[in-house]
Amino acid sequence: MRRIHGKRALVTGAASGIGRSIAMQLAREGVHLALLDHNEVELKQLDAKALGIDAEPLHLICDLRDREQIQEAVQQLIRHWQGVDILINNAGVAYYGSTHAMSQDEWQQILGVNLLAPVELTRLLLPYLLAEPEAHIVNVSSMYGHLATNRSTAYHLTKFGLVGFSEALRAEYARSGLGVTSLCPGFVATGLFSSMTSSTDREAQPPAWICTSSEYVASLTIRAIRRNQRTVFVGWLARLACFVRRVWPGLFDQFYRLRRPEFFKRRIFAPVRQLIDSRS
Ligand code: NAI
Repeated sequence: MRRIHGKRALVTGAASGIGRSIAMQLAREGVHLALLDHNEVELKQLDAKALGIDAEPLHLICDLRDREQIQEAVQQLIRHWQGVDILINNAGVAYYGSTHAMSQDEWQQILGVNLLAPVELTRLLLPYLLAEPEAHIVNVSSMYGHLATNRSTAYHLTKFGLVGFSEALRAEYARSGLGVTSLCPGFVATGLFSSMTSSTDREAQPPAWICTSSEYVASLTIRAIRRNQRTVFVGWLARLACFVRRVWPGLFDQFYRLRRPEFFKRRIFAPVRQLIDSRS
């Protein structure tokens, strides 16, 4: 999409973090905005004055876990604009903890917000996006959509899913003028970690020095829409980690094996003890 000025964009999870920064930068580019979130108070703070524009954005209060609410939000959007040019599936939630300790509700929450909601929004809006000569979908995945760590299985499932979903849509609709990007940031300094569900007491907030800013993520998002980029890794950590994962996939297996106490017992403590015993 060469020219984004004057286009109509729906941004989910716009009340805070990356979604908020994307909304602010799109507003500066002259894009008309529909902002969706379940956090009504914070969403409504993102008004015309905060965005530095004349016309009020359309605020859609919607819990993305609920399919009926998604359908209502889409109906409201279409009544308002009769179409849409850009869909940014950004809203997300995280979980940190052992997979076997996850409840059914926790699985449903992560899958619902991070994966099923983007699929449903895309399903409902595709006819309108395809009716435009140029349109674009951005799915906010993560570096965790390309490499897996421990204790985040549900999150990985959704982020890997979004990468596959994006690539399949891109292949299917390349000829129709629909661009699709999967955006894969490393750690970003937002409220995601403090709002995260966790089954452990461990501090999950990554240190500031490995985090990028949500403003930087937003600027790369707009560039990706303009250039119709397939995948965008945001930040040095995402680029490095995903590169290593591609060229040396076994390294991550070895790393996680190293952290297993049995591994230490069998491969390190036992041989050292044998050595000491044999010398005495
Ligand atoms: P955030 O917590 O600041 O923003 C998430 C937004 O989604 C919030 O405004 C929240 O109210 C909204 N949301 C959550 N559940 C919702 C629901 N049921 N219905 C409607 N809205 C809901 O977090 P952040 O970091 O801005 O996350 C945005 C996206 O970026 C997420 O998809 C996340 O997975 C992804 N991401 C974040 C990274 C990070 O380090 N912060 C790294 C890589 C990807």
